[in-house]
Amino acid sequence: MPTLAEFLTRADALARDGAALIHAATSRDAVDAARVTLLGRKQGQLTALMATLTELPADDRRSAGAAVNAAKHALETTLSDVEASLGPDVDASRPADLTMPGRATWRGAIHPVSAVIDEIAGIFRELGFTIALGPEAETEWYNFGALNFPPDHPAMEAHDTLYLGDDTLLRTHTSPVQVRTLQTYTPPVRILCPGNVYRRDFFDATHAPSFMQIEGLCIDEGVSFVDLKATLSEFARRFYSGSSKVRLRPSFFPFVEPGAEMDVEVDLNDGKGKRWVEILGCGMVHPDVLDAAGIDSEKYTGWAFGMGPARIAMSRHKLPDIRLLYDSDVRFLEQFAR
Ligand code: PHE
Repeated sequence: MPTLAEFLTRADALARDGAALIHAATSRDAVDAARVTLLGRKQGQLTALMATLTELPADDRRSAGAAVNAAKHALETTLSDVEASLGPDVDASRPADLTMPGRATWRGAIHPVSAVIDEIAGIFRELGFTIALGPEAETEWYNFGALNFPPDHPAMEAHDTLYLGDDTLLRTHTSPVQVRTLQTYTPPVRILCPGNVYRRDFFDATHAPSFMQIEGLCIDEGVSFVDLKATLSEFARRFYSGSSKVRLRPSFFPFVEPGAEMDVEVDLNDGKGKRWVEILGCGMVHPDVLDAAGIDSEKYTGWAFGMGPARIAMSRHKLPDIRLLYDSDVRFLEQFAR
C-alpha cells in the first residue's frame, strides 16, 4: 500500500517528466503520441496513477486526488501550448497544391427586385423605351390632379397617402412622371420609369408601405389599344416564357380610358397550383391627362402601365411572402447571387 508521500512524489514526477516529454515533441504527431502516453484513457500514466488512489487510506484520498488533478491540468496546458507553438501542420514532403481553386469571397449580389427592374428595362429598351425619373416628394397636382383624380377621390385620404405638408406628399404611384415627361418632351414619347412609391399600407405577405413601381408610357400619333396589348403581351412572353399566358381584365384608373389589369398565369409553389397573378395596371391615357400636360389630345394618343417589380419577382421566383424581399436576410438573398 503506498503512502500519501509516495503518491505525491509520483504525481510530481509525472507532471515534471511529462512536461519534458511534451516539450521534446517537434511535430504534431509527437505531441499526439505524448498525449496518449501521459493522458491516454486506458494505458496512460495518469490513469495508472489514479488507479492507485483507492489503495490509499481513505483520509488521504482527497489531497492525493487534488494533486493528480493538478498534474493533469498542467499536462493539458503544456500540450496545447506546445501544439500551438508548432503552427499549422505542414507536411514538407507534400508541398501546397498551387493549382487548387481559391476560396471565393462573398462579393454581394444584385437584389432580386433590382434584377427584375434591370431585366424589364432591358426588354423595353429593345422596344424603344428610355428611362425617365421623377421626384418621390410630389405635389397633389402631379400625383392626383393632373391625372384626372376628382378632388374627393378616396386615394387622397390621409389614411391612404403620406402627406409631407398641405400640398406635398410621398407619391403613391409613378404615374406623375407621365405628366412631368409630357411637359418636357413632345411626342413621340416612350419612357420607362422605375422608382419608389409610398402608401399607408400594412406590411403583410402581399403589401409593403414603400415599394418600387415601374411606369411605362407610350404617346404618338395613331397609337391604339392594339399597341398596348401587343407590347405588354410581348413583354410577358420575353420575361416569363414564350408559352406563358396573359389576360387583360377591365379595370378603372382615373387617368386611363379604357383601363385594364394584366394577369399572368404562374405557379407560386405554395401547393395551390397555377393561378392568375396580377402584375400590372394599364390603359389608354385619358385625353384630360394629355391636356393637363399641354399635349394636343386630338392629335396624340397613347397608353401607359404601372407594375410592381416586387410582385413580379415573387411570381418569377415563386416566393410566398413579399416580406422576404425586404428582410435583407443573407440566407435568402445569397440564393440569387451568381
Ligand atoms: N398608377 C397605377 C397604380 O399605381 C397603375 C397604372 C399606371 C395604371 C398606368 C394604369 C396606367 O396603381
